[in-house]
Amino acid sequence: MSDDTNAWETRYREGRTGWQREDVSPALLAWLADGTLKPCRILVPGAGRSHEPLHLALAGFHVTTLDIAPTAVAHQRAALAARGGAALEGDVFTFTPGQPFDAIYEQTCLCALPPPRLPAYAAQLARWLRPGGVLAALFMQTGREGGPPFHCALPDMRALLPGGTWRWPDRSWPEVRHHDGLFEIPLALTRG
Ligand SMILES: C[S@@+](CC[C@H](N)C(=O)[O-])C[C@H]1O[C@@H](n2cnc3c(N)ncnc32)[C@H](O)[C@@H]1O
Repeated sequence: MSDDTNAWETRYREGRTGWQREDVSPALLAWLADGTLKPCRILVPGAGRSHEPLHLALAGFHVTTLDIAPTAVAHQRAALAARGGAALEGDVFTFTPGQPFDAIYEQTCLCALPPPRLPAYAAQLARWLRPGGVLAALFMQTGREGGPPFHCALPDMRALLPGGTWRWPDRSWPEVRHHDGLFEIPLALTRG
């Protein structure tokens, strides 16, 4: 196991998983309700033990999850077993799918990665999505230094995911509040 794998796997084994939601994110429910996300081939990078992959599968999506932590992968494998999705163990920085995805659901993976590695992650997001595909992203707002989770200031995100490659939406969705005062800004970008 690499150091990165060990660190995340240890968090799962020791129950240090304060980021985990008890239910499906209201942002995902909004994107499903307004048609931003429609059944398609969707990737959930850094899926952890989140509820959203199963919710997407039950809504008719073909779901692929990716995570470096074996405990998280085992959880998603069991959750998706009856729905035909795939739960892959792997590193977001090296994952190369056989064909591009129609959509990506990005929830607390980007904010968990070391900031110096974000340009490499952004390049992967662009590689993974077909032109016209949707990046449904929740940008974590911590308002403080350090992490994870790291603060995802929108100006920084616009520089990371620039207009030439990404179409930014001209509308917004309600912020997703966390019990610890953090919140996420949901924005659905389109791959140019
Ligand atoms: C903060 S957790 C979020 C999990 C999940 N998205 C959720 O909302 O509960 C970050 C996840 O990213 C995974 N992760 C971190 N670095 C990764 C990497 N380089 N490649 C794949 N997964 C990674 C961790 O194992 C962990 O499950």
